[in-house]
Amino acid sequence: MSKQSTRAVAIEALRRRLTARDASIGVIGLGYVGLPLIGAIASAGFKVVGFDIDADKVTLLNAGRSYIRHISDASIAALVKQRRFRAVTDFAELAQVDAVLICVPTPLTRHREPDLSYIVGTAESIAPHLRRGHLIVLESTTYPGTTREVMLPILERGGLKSGIDFFLGYSPEREDPGNTQYSTTKIPKVVGGDGADALSLVAAFYDQFVAGTIPVASCETAEAVKLTENIFRAVNIALVNELKMVYSAMGIDVWEVIKAASSKPFGFMPFYPGPGLGGHCIPIDPFYLTWKAREYDISTRFIELAGEINTAMPRYVIERLQSALNERHGKGLKGARILILGVAYKKNVEDMRESPTFKIIELLEARGAAVAYHDPFVAEIPRSREHPEFAGRRSVPLNPETARSADVALICTDHDGVDYRIVVEHCPLVIDTRNACAHAGCAAANVVKA
Ligand SMILES: NC(=O)c1ccc[n+]([C@@H]2O[C@H](COP(=O)([O-])OP(=O)(O)OC[C@H]3O[C@@H](n4cnc5c(N)ncnc54)[C@H](O)[C@@H]3O)[C@@H](O)[C@H]2O)c1
Repeated sequence: MSKQSTRAVAIEALRRRLTARDASIGVIGLGYVGLPLIGAIASAGFKVVGFDIDADKVTLLNAGRSYIRHISDASIAALVKQRRFRAVTDFAELAQVDAVLICVPTPLTRHREPDLSYIVGTAESIAPHLRRGHLIVLESTTYPGTTREVMLPILERGGLKSGIDFFLGYSPEREDPGNTQYSTTKIPKVVGGDGADALSLVAAFYDQFVAGTIPVASCETAEAVKLTENIFRAVNIALVNELKMVYSAMGIDVWEVIKAASSKPFGFMPFYPGPGLGGHCIPIDPFYLTWKAREYDISTRFIELAGEINTAMPRYVIERLQSALNERHGKGLKGARILILGVAYKKNVEDMRESPTFKIIELLEARGAAVAYHDPFVAEIPRSREHPEFAGRRSVPLNPETARSADVALICTDHDGVDYRIVVEHCPLVIDTRNACAHAGCAAANVVKA
């Protein structure tokens, strides 16, 4: 058989295994993205091997336990018991799987530049075990060019060629943790490939378990799609944060404005203001494009401006708090007792990465305030890279007594299931960055929106 037809036979064999769902799939990075993805793939019938460098997570998962609140122990235990999923730290097992999906972190460095060390590290772990017929797909959010400019050369070091010996693609994860309406399988997936064969294999695989695939021209296009989605959010959130400040100075409630504007059946999409951006995506991803755009002598002014406005929000909230405390109660921040409601970066999740609340606590304490927090999702603040100083602090109960002992309650996250009435009734001043009191039907004169 000629080289050409051997290759065609190998592609068809892989396609058949993928569409028959008897291929074995490796997922690298068992985090907020990797774990739900594994659930979706394993539930479709594939066998999944999860790879992580964190041995504790691997042990926990193999014992049938989840460390992410919205993923149940029972769902992990069932997959382990049915032998559909197991987790390992030994990357040599990559040689046994047919396809490898990469879901490792893509943070910014201290100088706010893309930190590709996790992607590079992963590509270097795969390279020695790469074999003919492997399908490798990057899912981590990153700038256009990462898959082919950064990963491909590392993978080809051993002599195998992309598009000939193995197949390389990019398909961005669109996970929205905690969103019960749109779980992994209900979200369509954009797919890009390094060449036509890679693209068709990537699409054939994801078509087995998601609500449709959208093939695009290249890995770069797929990478750009994900950044565009997140930049769109960052810029629009900055816009409503700016409007919030302007309207507030005019005595207009931005929340009422957004609600009324949303009645327009076309051409308007509501975004909501808040205490600043949080999470692993929206505050970070736009700057991946900013960095890459410099290579083309282009500055991304919208992105920078949105970043400036969103980053200024914690200071704005504190200014509002400080002046309300001063005007209404004749008190300063020094010595004031502040009860923060919510340290997670968004409602109904325990994820605190990049949470603007940490900046708020830092600024309040620097000005001499005594800060306590209540968060039903975060009983104790774990050690984090960005804020090790807060590790070990514990959530206080929310009851009339704790509310009465605070000078100000500051609502940073609008978790459902928190009784906002308690602070409205027992705390002299409530600063609400999420319009939570109005939504809970307990708006009152002591509530200030910020
Ligand atoms: N969290 C979200 O909501 C979300 C949504 C869409 C896209 N994303 C993107 O998905 C990617 C992953 O994000 P996440 O939130 O799942 O991160 P995470 O921190 O929750 O999980 C990443 C996992 O990768 C592991 N890891 C790190 N380096 C590794 C290596 N070299 N080999 C193997 N494992 C390694 C870590 O131990 C961790 O378990 C990021 O690029 C992120 O931008 C995240």
